[in-house]
Amino acid sequence: MARYIIRGGLEEKKRLEVLARVMWPTTSRLLAEAGVAPGMTCLDLGCGGGDVTLQLAALTGPQGQVTGVDIDETQLDLAQQAARRDGLENVQFRRLNVQDWIEESQYDCIYSRFLLTHLADPLQVLRQMLRAVRPGGLALIEDIDFSGHFCQPPCASFDTYVRLYRMAARRQGADADIGPKLYGMMLDAGWQAVKVNVVQPMFTSGEGKQIAVLTLTNIADALLDEKLTTESELQFAIDDLIRFTDAPRTLVSMPRVFQLWGRRD
Ligand SMILES: C[S@@+](CC[C@H](N)C(=O)[O-])C[C@H]1O[C@@H](n2cnc3c(N)ncnc32)[C@H](O)[C@@H]1O
Repeated sequence: MARYIIRGGLEEKKRLEVLARVMWPTTSRLLAEAGVAPGMTCLDLGCGGGDVTLQLAALTGPQGQVTGVDIDETQLDLAQQAARRDGLENVQFRRLNVQDWIEESQYDCIYSRFLLTHLADPLQVLRQMLRAVRPGGLALIEDIDFSGHFCQPPCASFDTYVRLYRMAARRQGADADIGPKLYGMMLDAGWQAVKVNVVQPMFTSGEGKQIAVLTLTNIADALLDEKLTTESELQFAIDDLIRFTDAPRTLVSMPRVFQLWGRRD
């Protein structure tokens, strides 16, 4: 089984909140395009802090039912607190390792963002998703392609970050470049009418521009555990990446994000 390379807990919750805000314009378009609608029963697989789970709960409304599942208890507690704060009663969270997950024809829609990239056997999970939706049910996936992550002008510490992230993922049985492979995988898993789209937010300023620094900081433990770098090299890369990010004339992108949606026959 792949180990999760990003540190969990509160620090990760903050990073996921930034990601959620930056991704919401394109995630919301995907949910609308794929047909998420009031009254649906939805599952958010690998929901993290529940940012999209809560949006699904709002979209599906009082007649809908939304469940967020994740392996990280801290994220789930924070997600639960946010649901209570927002007064959402049609949402629940539970702990689950998706690699041991089996359900039959339970959902109208399963959404999963930035999860499959972390798994040793994403195809198996796409097959389980097909089993878990009802006939006619939907899968919506968003996942990364780190090979398309860029900055301008070229920056050695940004290249170090991209290289280290991809190596750490590979070491732990995961795939940072899974995005373009997901179309074939969805077909192999039996999904029908699969559509695909690519989005790539890019920033000159603001919180979105901090994503590379936040991610490098949150994978530090995995990089050091795997001996992919030393503490001093890592600190130099983080400091230099912070300087690059704060410079007013630089550009920093998100990884390329593949959006896919398909239907069970
Ligand atoms: C990058 S986060 C994305 C969270 C959320 N989908 C979002 O977009 O904000 C990936 C999530 O997958 C979860 N995860 C990783 N491996 C998992 C597994 N085997 N079973 C369940 N969740 C897992 C992590 O705990 C983490 O919350």
